[in-house]
Amino acid sequence: MQPQDALVLQDLEHDYDRVRAVAGVSLSVKAGEVVCLVGPSGCGKSTVLRLAAGLETLQSGRVSMRGEAVGDPAARVRVPPERRHIGLVFQDFALFPHLTVGGNVAFGLTQRPPVERDQRVREVLRQVEMDGYIDAYPHALSGGQQQRVALARALAPEPSVLLLDEPFSGLDERLREQVRDDTLRLLRRNGTAALLVTHDPEEALFMADRIYLMRAGKIVQSGPPQELYYRPADLFVASFFSRVNELRGVVRDGHVESPLGRLGAPGQPEGARVVVSFRPEAVTLSHARGDDADGLIVEVQDTHFLGTGWVVHVPVRDAEGREVKLSVRLNGRPPKAGDRVVLKVPPDAILMFPET
Ligand SMILES: Nc1ncnc2c1ncn2[C@@H]1O[C@H](COP(=O)(O)OP(=O)(O)OP(=O)(O)O)[C@@H](O)[C@H]1O
Ligand SMILES: [Mg+2]
Repeated sequence: MQPQDALVLQDLEHDYDRVRAVAGVSLSVKAGEVVCLVGPSGCGKSTVLRLAAGLETLQSGRVSMRGEAVGDPAARVRVPPERRHIGLVFQDFALFPHLTVGGNVAFGLTQRPPVERDQRVREVLRQVEMDGYIDAYPHALSGGQQQRVALARALAPEPSVLLLDEPFSGLDERLREQVRDDTLRLLRRNGTAALLVTHDPEEALFMADRIYLMRAGKIVQSGPPQELYYRPADLFVASFFSRVNELRGVVRDGHVESPLGRLGAPGQPEGARVVVSFRPEAVTLSHARGDDADGLIVEVQDTHFLGTGWVVHVPVRDAEGREVKLSVRLNGRPPKAGDRVVLKVPPDAILMFPET
């Protein structure tokens, strides 16, 4: 553990009655770093965050902040949440309805002398551009404004680490993008370390310096966003971040037969069943002229307009004769249904995984 680690979780385990919610999670958040904990619904993300905050009693493992244990059942250490120097932001914002905006933000600053406290309240409200609402009550604010006040309240005491659980999912899509962007800027400007829980892959890619992807109580891969996207550890990781095309095959003489040709299968055992996968945006289509030797000639089945581009479906037969509908993502105008086209996938965009 390094002193520059704002938060370190080691081997956390947590059972609810008969449900194993967290099964050995370790992660760290460095000073000034924004880390996203992402994964499908029910995989244990909120439980990890609650254990880090001390809102849930730690059963096994250790939680440390800035080099010191704040939760360690084996050593009988249990620092209560209010003494962990954390800021908390939840999906429902949970502003106190009977306090004004100013009162909400001042809530965690009772230790400070009144003049200093008022200054700090005004300062953070200015940072979230809510200083004009200092005397308003939460019910009179929009969802986005309430979220910004909740963020100001969490940041006001200058916590060592901010813990956020799905803080944007109550906002409509357009507002969500804006508030995400503002939040990120604010975290950067204050140099605040943050652990953000989300089930939204795009949000994690957008926000994170590093991502931890969780599945069924365990971390399956961690790293910078581009690493998880371009070098996923398995098919689950690959398909979590976007749709992927999947072709099945068997390794023979170190190769796999596929509609894309005979592909090298380094590291895959002989006779293994594998999935050859690639993302829809990695595929190119060009009009077939009859002399295209290097590429698969296919017929376009249908096209769908998405505003930002097009999705084109092309059926192919895999090595075992089964029909597989491939998805192709194009930015420009696509070919028409029934057109014969040449389909290509660059070799470095092809990922191969053992079939599970
Ligand atoms: N208080 C509780 N009592 C019993 N089981 C619980 C409790 N809280 C969570 N669980 C169970 O523990 C598992 C993990 O829940 P958790 O809330 O941590 O998941 P999550 O990843 O945050 O999911 P979501 O994305 O839906 O918020 C789930 O199976 C859930 O049903
Ligand atoms: Mg949750």
